[in-house]
Amino acid sequence: MSALFTPFTLKDVTLRNRIAVPPMCQYKAVDGFTNEWHQVHYPSIARGGAGLVIVEATAVSPEGRITPDCTGLWNDQQAEGMATIAAGIKAAGSVPGIQIAHAGRKASANNPWEGDDHIAEGDARGWQTIAPSAIAFGNDLGKVPTAMTLDDIARVQADFVAAARRARDAGFEWLELHFAHGYLAQSFFSPHSNQRDDQYGGSFENRSRFLLETLAAVREVWPENLPLTARFGVIEYDGRDEETLSESIALVRKMREAGLDMLNVSVNFVIPDVNIPWATPAFLAPIAERVSREAGLPVAASWGIDDPQLAERVVADGQMDLVMIGRANLANPHYVYHLAQVLGVNRPDWVLPSSYAHWLERYRGAARSTK
Ligand SMILES: Cc1cc2nc3c(=O)[nH]c(=O)nc-3n(C[C@H](O)[C@H](O)[C@H](O)COP(=O)(O)O)c2cc1C
Repeated sequence: MSALFTPFTLKDVTLRNRIAVPPMCQYKAVDGFTNEWHQVHYPSIARGGAGLVIVEATAVSPEGRITPDCTGLWNDQQAEGMATIAAGIKAAGSVPGIQIAHAGRKASANNPWEGDDHIAEGDARGWQTIAPSAIAFGNDLGKVPTAMTLDDIARVQADFVAAARRARDAGFEWLELHFAHGYLAQSFFSPHSNQRDDQYGGSFENRSRFLLETLAAVREVWPENLPLTARFGVIEYDGRDEETLSESIALVRKMREAGLDMLNVSVNFVIPDVNIPWATPAFLAPIAERVSREAGLPVAASWGIDDPQLAERVVADGQMDLVMIGRANLANPHYVYHLAQVLGVNRPDWVLPSSYAHWLERYRGAARSTK
């Protein structure tokens, strides 16, 4: 019996298995609007068999996009396209999820294959970024952001609430707040990027305030019976790991009290040039397990969990409740069926969909008979 292929229930939502496709930017939107690319991509990847498919980091305001080609939910017209995508994911048997985000000082960037760096000053495609303090990330993301006023903070929090409402009305059943990867929320919590001297900076309570207030405000509009989750970096790999980890877990505990149902455990990415153990498979698994145990809520994680036995083991050993598998699902949109095959899961619903399986079986048979 495979642990990975056991259903998972959170609030009123049941996933058909423990495999989730994490949010992955497609860089194909125009003015934040989705199009045929997204309408085909997301349902296709859902048809591949994952329990949950989370739509990419979707900006709550135009200046919150990572690149000019990122999706948005800052107006009702954008929500119409998202409703088609949510319905497509659901029709393919997965639960439709979406990540809502503000990229903060890492916004206004070129696409990865164009350099992943900030759009050059004077290039009309770029815009002025905002962040807790006027401190640049560094390296190729060297643009200095404008320090947010209290009005800016209130506006962005209202933008998160409005985007959450639109995601709800568009039919998404799982919401992930992007509080990770050095984007706006993560940069409020980190002393590396937040050097404010008001109620949003300084002490642990003050650096937590933006995240906890945003979460609580979103919880007000996100249905109580649907999972409200966050992706949050709990470790920077900058040599201060125990300190960062224990402070982060203290915040996750407060997030749980404010209504968080699950955490997608990740890396901070607040400063460049850190020593992330990329070569260690599933390097976040023991960290996810600790966050779950000490903060008392279910967890998921990704980064390098693309081996069937490893994916099975991290769930079977109780290190995480869900496995987020990203690039393997891009490389093979039927990767989940491949996992089922390798793990010997022979339930009829975990062979390929009948539309394919029937013909592939005949094709194989025909190939054999002509030998
Ligand atoms: C093309 C691409 C786009 C990504 N976009 C996002 C995103 O929108 N939000 C996010 O939190 N992580 C994003 N990530 C990180 C993935 O969610 C995931 O954590 C990462 O790919 C590691 O998992 P993997 O080793 O299974 O691929 C992206 C990764 C890729 C490859």
